[in-house]
Amino acid sequence: MRVIDDVEQTRAYARSLRRPLGLVPTMGALHEGHLSLVRAARRDCASVAVSIFVNPTQFGPNEDFASYPRDLERDLALLRDEGVDLVFVPSVEQVYPPGFDTTVSLQRTAARLEGAHRPGHFAGVATVVAKLFIIIEPNRAYFGQKDGQQTIVVRRMTQDLNLPVEIVVLPTVREPDGLAMSSRNVYLTPEERRAAPALYRGLRRATELFEAGERDAETLRQAVRAVVAGEPLIALEYVSLAALDTLDELERVDRPAMLSLAARLGHARLIDNVLLPPPTDTRQGGR
Ligand code: PAF
Repeated sequence: MRVIDDVEQTRAYARSLRRPLGLVPTMGALHEGHLSLVRAARRDCASVAVSIFVNPTQFGPNEDFASYPRDLERDLALLRDEGVDLVFVPSVEQVYPPGFDTTVSLQRTAARLEGAHRPGHFAGVATVVAKLFIIIEPNRAYFGQKDGQQTIVVRRMTQDLNLPVEIVVLPTVREPDGLAMSSRNVYLTPEERRAAPALYRGLRRATELFEAGERDAETLRQAVRAVVAGEPLIALEYVSLAALDTLDELERVDRPAMLSLAARLGHARLIDNVLLPPPTDTRQGGR
């Protein structure tokens, strides 16, 4: 496994790898969710690259860029065990050298939900993902359904810019009690950790109602809020039930949709989502 921090060396080494090449972009602090992406890439592709870069431009001024968990040695050991070929670990200066002045921004899909609560977040994500695609030139790139809106933004950006990369989305990996795996779960106190699975219980409750025939979007959003309200440690920021392609909020669930939420538990801000109807192909988190 080659670990490279330099952009040109990474490009040259990636070009020497057997194709197809799969890329798993990460910010490190790897967990089973990331590893499920690496394993899928390993299965589907002749070579696998992973990037580890805590991208400052996708964090707001009052967000957790400085405290975001970092443990490069542990991450590299995990990736070595998974048989990864290349790990790109650039510094901030390598990705954003002095004078850097270009942003990839999306108008509509990035303005909703997370974009409305985290201004500039998706411009940071889209810019860094576009750069990673241009530097590493993967044939496929792997993302988790947990960051549902991110998968929609990245697909849109890839299509709009004609980037020759297939976007693969894999299901959210959950703890046994349903909590979506996230590098930010380490911020939870033991009490908050006990409360947190109510988020997924709310999403499940709405899914059950959907499966029983309920199509009124507000009834389904309200079902999530009602379950989460049972945990006073959770402050919901939003519950959205939106069309999967445009992220327009729905009145009736008459097309593929994403039911998503964001919530604060103490210092942690967590997101989660489910697709309605739930995907039948269990390998595929998104569409
Ligand atoms: O999902 C993440 O970890 C990040 O948003 C990504 C895609 C690596 C871009 O920094």
